[in-house]
Amino acid sequence: MKIAVYSAHDYDRDGLTAANAAGGHDLLFIKAPLSAATARQAAGCGGACIFVNDHADAEALRILAEDGVHLLALRCAGFNNVDAAEAKRLGISVTRVGDYSPHSVAEHAVALLLALNRNIPIAHERVLANDYRLDGLMGFDLYGKTIGIIGAGRIGAVFAGILRGFGCTIIAYDAYPDPEFERAGARFVSLAELAAQSDAISLHCPLTPDTRHLLDADFFAACKPGALLVNTSRGAVLDTAAALAALHSGHLGGLALDVYEFEAGLFFEDHSQSALADPLLAELQQLPNVLITGHQGFFTREAFSTICQTTIDSFTAYEKGAPLVNRIPD
Ligand code: NAI
Repeated sequence: MKIAVYSAHDYDRDGLTAANAAGGHDLLFIKAPLSAATARQAAGCGGACIFVNDHADAEALRILAEDGVHLLALRCAGFNNVDAAEAKRLGISVTRVGDYSPHSVAEHAVALLLALNRNIPIAHERVLANDYRLDGLMGFDLYGKTIGIIGAGRIGAVFAGILRGFGCTIIAYDAYPDPEFERAGARFVSLAELAAQSDAISLHCPLTPDTRHLLDADFFAACKPGALLVNTSRGAVLDTAAALAALHSGHLGGLALDVYEFEAGLFFEDHSQSALADPLLAELQQLPNVLITGHQGFFTREAFSTICQTTIDSFTAYEKGAPLVNRIPD
């Protein structure tokens, strides 16, 4: 099958080409993200492959369908950027990679929590400047603290397991609580209880209409003063402006983000030669108790090779008329 691979970086080209050794598909790599403006570039392709910040909205999907695309494969877990109802109406099947190393993202969330709490980026910068003072670098023991997890699914469960190893008490909020999670030694609570009890909170739920701005000004007001917040799920689960206000008031102790509400068009690209046109992000970047990475939670060798192989396998299965086991849920 000829496949248009949007938002293609060198690592995508390498990973997908290697995964395609047995698949034998014809991969057309396109640097631009999918949108209504770029959808025509897939003309002549039976499949298209997209990533987290591509816009598979109704118009883009209509053009893809018109030009013969039957399968849209997301090379990521989240599918909030696809108009799933419209894809169904147009007869485009949509797959994702729902199941790849949850350790990749969970371990990154732990790295962010540790680095934020112990001020590692600031400490490193100081050492590089031969400034060995400890002033302002004090953190707290994670041992004995309460960690709140929002979204206790695959990644949330791995994150919980790691933090239990640190000697933390784990509480979680989930719209569909899985008893298995509690059997592993955690406790489900309401969102309000989670806010009130947690010394640090980590987000691991998908972005849906229900979770958009789930963490808003009211949530931050209900948090323990000085609590730390880590978001490796999707940017808009957090009302970022409200989080910034809570940081300014000192109520929120620190914020670590791997995903950002307005990351589309910014993350995954080099913008170092232009002024940052996002005042909210610019303000966050200036704060000493904010730590940001550019959506790299998934980016381990193990997770990425699974992502590439599963994506290619979806195209192969479609071509052979085999069941599409990685269809997005209805
Ligand atoms: P999962 O589907 O295994 O777990 C998600 C959990 O969130 C489930 O337990 C579900 O019941 C819960 N949930 C759903 N709606 C909710 C709501 N309204 N309130 C509270 N909880 C709710 O998904 P997984 O694999 O753990 O991934 C979680 C998210 O992490 C993905 O949806 C994606 O957005 C993000 N992600 C980020 C990556 C990164 O590179 N930073 C990479 C992979 C995923």
